[in-house]
Amino acid sequence: MKSLPSPYILVGDEIFAHHEAKVSASDRGFLYGDGIYETLRIYQGIPFEMEEHLGRLRESADALYMFLPWSDEELAQKIRRTLEANDTQEGRLRITVTRGEGDVRARPEDLREPVIVIRAQPYEPPAEDFYHRGVSVEISERIRNLPDALDPAIKSGNLLNNLLARFEMRSRNTFETLLPNARGELTEGSLSNIFLVDVQGRLVTPSAESGILLGITRKWVMDLAIGRGLEVVEKGVKAAELYEAREAFITASTLEILPVTRVEDKPIGHGEAGPITLALLEAYRKGVSDYIQSFRWPEL
Ligand code: PDD
Repeated sequence: MKSLPSPYILVGDEIFAHHEAKVSASDRGFLYGDGIYETLRIYQGIPFEMEEHLGRLRESADALYMFLPWSDEELAQKIRRTLEANDTQEGRLRITVTRGEGDVRARPEDLREPVIVIRAQPYEPPAEDFYHRGVSVEISERIRNLPDALDPAIKSGNLLNNLLARFEMRSRNTFETLLPNARGELTEGSLSNIFLVDVQGRLVTPSAESGILLGITRKWVMDLAIGRGLEVVEKGVKAAELYEAREAFITASTLEILPVTRVEDKPIGHGEAGPITLALLEAYRKGVSDYIQSFRWPEL
């Protein structure tokens, strides 16, 4: 799984060659992590679930009292220009918006010139083998930001809570680390959401109240599962439930549905991708293919 550099990057209204794409040293994103972002997966040149990602970008902005001066059509146009400049077919695209330049004491209403940067990178997802063998996760000792402090539902550019958990991973063989909340319930991975299939065959995932990012892939998976007649439960999930699960998987735009087959040294279920996980993955990929077939760029 790797990402290569983007040859061309959009800053504001212009596309620049990689080494010429710059933001100010006084930018609040750089100084304080005062910004937001979205990561989209690109399939055949199409940004999957673009409307949902733009919707969440706006929700993150609202939650941080940030003003976004662009319409969805204008944002789509910027995305399209970036993809075309890079000729990105299979890749990932990141939209970063910072509050722009301004003094640390400034009020949000006086800071109405956000900076937007869009980059598209060729991306190789995890090898197909990972989708059968599964990956190993750890449970972190680092707790997830409390919703009343910096709500994990905001996709903020300040990633330090998640990065600390990643730096503290105990084994090099671990793919993802899961952060508990202050009540000891699981929240999410450092870069993904977590699901498990319990002994009753229900699909269980930490609820919004647990303190999570409401993943766009998570929503897709829950809708697919409901459509297939599975019982979906959002609730506080204890680590013990993961150890006892029949199946588990993580979700993210870049990963799709990636089976989790070990928690630290303990196998989950039979230690390989389970039937519900594989059926959901197949349905998800079908959904992606339908989406890209019917996608149309909005008119300005
Ligand atoms: N990460 N939780 C966290 C903390 C995340 O960072 C992500 C995504 C998710 C999954 O969200 P979605 O299904 O909407 O991609 C959950 C992306 C890939 C990133 O940070 O680049």
